[in-house]
Amino acid sequence: MLNEKIHEALTAQVNAELWSAYLYLSMSIDLEMKGLKGFSHWYYVQSQEEFDHANILINYLISRDSKIRMDQILSVPNSWSSPIEILKESLAQEQKVSAKIQELATLASRMEDFATQNCIQWFVNEQVEEEQSLRDLINLFNMTAEFKCGLLNMDSDLAKRRYKKPSIIG
Ligand SMILES: [Fe+2]
Repeated sequence: MLNEKIHEALTAQVNAELWSAYLYLSMSIDLEMKGLKGFSHWYYVQSQEEFDHANILINYLISRDSKIRMDQILSVPNSWSSPIEILKESLAQEQKVSAKIQELATLASRMEDFATQNCIQWFVNEQVEEEQSLRDLINLFNMTAEFKCGLLNMDSDLAKRRYKKPSIIG
């Protein structure tokens, strides 16, 4: 049986991952409305990945015979001024998630819950990748924005992102 504090923290993290999925879906819609189909596609895949993250935690809670509580998902913004604003907000969101994952890892370590530590380790690595990919996109955007075709080239590159189900889900 999971410690109550860990159970609460994991439940909160399920909600945070679903909120991220909701946020990125909203960004995807806004980018589609702006005519940036590649950016929109990239964010749609990003939203699916966040949904997977929630599922990884749900599966873990089930495997530990713990109650699942699906809390309310708060609303998200619906429009942004530009793609760079979206990218910057996404990086800020991932940095917040990384801090929450760090807290979860610390709690699991303090409670000597090695199974939860092991589960959370996957997220620790994932957050490093999430932050890096957004930083890369922000840098690419800043480097190419001065060229007329920069945004369009970046848009067609982002259209190539393929959805990959994490192997941890099975
Ligand atoms: Fe996530």
